Amino acid sequence: MADALPSCLLNGKLVATRDARVSPLDRAFLFGDAIYEVVPCYNGRPLRLDAHLDRLANSLDGLGMAAPYPRKRWHELFARLVEANGAGDMGVYLQVTRGAGKGRDFLPPEGLEPTIFGFAWPLAPPSQAHLESGLTGVVLEDIRWLRCDIKSTALLAAVLLRREAEARGGDEAILVRDGRLTEGSSSAVFLVKNDEIITPPASNERLPSITRLIVGDVLDELGLPVSEREVPVDELMEMDEAWISSATREALAITHLGGRPVGTGKPGPVWKRVYEGFQALKQRECGA
Ligand code: PDD
Repeated sequence: MADALPSCLLNGKLVATRDARVSPLDRAFLFGDAIYEVVPCYNGRPLRLDAHLDRLANSLDGLGMAAPYPRKRWHELFARLVEANGAGDMGVYLQVTRGAGKGRDFLPPEGLEPTIFGFAWPLAPPSQAHLESGLTGVVLEDIRWLRCDIKSTALLAAVLLRREAEARGGDEAILVRDGRLTEGSSSAVFLVKNDEIITPPASNERLPSITRLIVGDVLDELGLPVSEREVPVDELMEMDEAWISSATREALAITHLGGRPVGTGKPGPVWKRVYEGFQALKQRECGA
């Protein structure tokens, strides 16, 4: 990931990223008591900002926290952050924490002021190497909690899984729980077998991925139906094609999984159509 851009948002103000400061007593620091979003921006325009803000609202709800800003204020602040950083292609991170108490208490005290932080970084398109050869997925046991539908900043399990995938020469951890595919450690998963396109359904074990919805729209436009169903691990290992999707990686083919090639071991034809459809959608929605 690229370095952070110079301006960030802290509690409603634009400040220099290098000078931004929060309390070490912030509950995000002590407990991971916070939620976040990652929104891709192309040409200075966010892709599906409202869907991300809907998910942010659901995550806050999951923490029992009130919305800190009305929707219009989010839009304004978002636009100011993007503008201040040159309005190009960037990833935008938004985080809302439960705030800082006077000490460390598992039970959150009443009346805390949430901390609201946003920063951005240059968003590079997928590399030519990744487009041509795809990614290597490493199949690992899903060791995360059972509220993966909340986009929590408490990401230690995802960090450990990603490190483990890297140590085994992979680009992404593809997670299984109770013998079924859940998702990538930071991505949704799509699969193709005998012309059936499959993605596992929304549940408490998965983040409701916005890029997955966008890929669904692209597949719709292509007239390709998708089955939302659970995928047993033995089926996972026999796929013709696989790809992951996320706000920062768009849709990238997984060409090797669990030490074996997926299909031909090259990015497949369905992925290619999805990738091209995704670029056309970006162009339409963001002029990028
Ligand atoms: N993560 N599942 C998990 C566990 C994720 O962390 C992510 C994305 C996704 C894909 O969601 P979306 O399409 O909305 O990006 C699925 C972001 C990119 C991150 O934490 O950086």
